[in-house]
Amino acid sequence: MAGRFPQAWLDELRERADIVSVVSRYVQLNMKGGRYWGLCPFHGEKTASFSVNPQRQMYYCFGCHAGGSAINFVMEMERVEFRDAVRLLAEQVHMDLPEMVAGPDDAMSRTQKERLYEANKQCARFFHAQLWKKESSLVLSYLYNRGLDDSVIRTFGLGSTPQRSDGATVALREMGFTDDELVMAGISVRRDGRVYDMFRQRAIFPIIDAQGRVLGFGGRALGDAKPKYLNTGDTPVFNKRQGVFAANLLKKQRNLKRVILVEGYMDVIALTQAGVPGVCATLGTALTLEQARLLKRYAPEIWVSYDGDAAGQNAILRALDIFDEEGIRSRVLDFPGGMDPDEYIRAYGPQSIDELEPMDATSYRMKQEMGRHDMSSQEGRTAYAIACSKYLTKVREPVELENYIQKLMISTGFAREVLIAQIGRTEMIAENRRSVYSHAARPLEEHTDGVDVETAAAEKKLLQLLAEGRVEAGTVSPDDFITPQRRALAQKLLAGMTPGAILEGIEDEQERARIARVLQKDSGALDEQQLRMTGDCLRVLHKKRIEEKIAALTREAAGLKGEEKRSVLLKIQELTKERQTAGRKE
Ligand code: UTP
Ligand code: MN
Repeated sequence: MAGRFPQAWLDELRERADIVSVVSRYVQLNMKGGRYWGLCPFHGEKTASFSVNPQRQMYYCFGCHAGGSAINFVMEMERVEFRDAVRLLAEQVHMDLPEMVAGPDDAMSRTQKERLYEANKQCARFFHAQLWKKESSLVLSYLYNRGLDDSVIRTFGLGSTPQRSDGATVALREMGFTDDELVMAGISVRRDGRVYDMFRQRAIFPIIDAQGRVLGFGGRALGDAKPKYLNTGDTPVFNKRQGVFAANLLKKQRNLKRVILVEGYMDVIALTQAGVPGVCATLGTALTLEQARLLKRYAPEIWVSYDGDAAGQNAILRALDIFDEEGIRSRVLDFPGGMDPDEYIRAYGPQSIDELEPMDATSYRMKQEMGRHDMSSQEGRTAYAIACSKYLTKVREPVELENYIQKLMISTGFAREVLIAQIGRTEMIAENRRSVYSHAARPLEEHTDGVDVETAAAEKKLLQLLAEGRVEAGTVSPDDFITPQRRALAQKLLAGMTPGAILEGIEDEQERARIARVLQKDSGALDEQQLRMTGDCLRVLHKKRIEEKIAALTREAAGLKGEEKRSVLLKIQELTKERQTAGRKE
């Protein structure tokens, strides 16, 4: 179903689907100190650090920092997209699904699609049952020859096409599916007025999504017939640019540290058989943004492991760019000798996988870049340094950047300052160096978004007071905030959004964790203290803004002379006085 849910309807759903009752379906909760507590469903634990706050309509885990709204919770638990989580919740609270707004119309109704899913499922069962029949012995021995055992064949539901050219078509017709449905699902094709099977003389790999629906099939030729793999084309229920192979298995593996993305069906199966969890493949196309977003749901990191040939290497670089764009941490697992994972395992055995070290994305880019330059000439080294600098501008953590710079110094012979200037990170030079380092070295919780600790603390405290709903109308305005991100949060809270609803809008999980940590906290203020606390925070921020102005004017004054300079100095003096009174309590 395309389009979006109407806002008013979503708001009503959020109100009706109370987070405590939603979470209670999955986690046993106990009330303590104004919130509910239970064992976190997202990480293994023995003492309860998972909290649900009914007033703020949000959950937050003190252990793994997962946080969000009721909808986020269902998305995580059921491993579904936003709209499916919304549908589940609507069902639970008996709300009818609304007319979707502002989106392209769907060519097919939901029930028509259900028919195609069902046809695919029955077809997958048919192919799988077929595999164990005598007439399919060629296909079965093909799979055995490729090193697969019965157990992994069952795990993936692999199958065989029947002897008859319309065997699947006939079987599904008998189950009540129409020829139109079978053609639409890509199971059958029409030729000269007759209907035949799409897949002939092939080993069958069903493509199953995270909800367990069969979307389509890949069929491997047994010999050198072309194409090597025949895949279901685009159908109303299958788009190869959106799904991945083995999404159904990914969903079952909780707490994955990383997803491994490979190129082929056989690579997924070989790695899975070797005991490697969390492996999936794109379906014969380059990685898309949609797929990257899908994979992000399963693990905090994605390792790309494509074939070692030139095409594979270029595909890796493109995939890394997509992961960057989506803010996904990624690494590259490179197989030696241009082998694909399946070949590698068959050559060296399943344990050999553990010995491979994944490489971080930037190191991989630098390594690939090196192959393109003649490093024995000064010209080549210069071109290499320039190319690498482009990658390094994107490295956010100064400590990581420092490591790359060290390597680049050695391989190119350029001095640190020169490389930093090339990268454009002038703040890392000389006197500012120390402050940049100490900022980066601080752990996540003390991240201050570029302002000093006092400002950050005042802003956070104000947000907490707002999140508790205990600030009198008109006392606080978004303009009181200095950092843009927290100003935006304040604006939403002041507009009446619950913390849960605010978190829901944040896609990046780490970002959401960080903001959840702020919004879940109690201000600790008793009613009578609350007004004073608000005032204190506002005063700190007011003072900070004056100090910022003073600093800016001081910098300006340094470049001025005579009358101009005097007038700026005068302004500075006035502001200095203002700052003294601002700091004082009235
Ligand atoms: P490869 O050619 O690398 O095949 O294609 P592979 O996985 O190593 O296959 P085996 O080991 O020879 O059986 C990688 C992936 O590209 C898609 C398939 O998804 C395949 O797994 N592909 C390849 C096709 O869709 N059609 C083709 O004709 C070839
Ligand atoms: Mn292969």
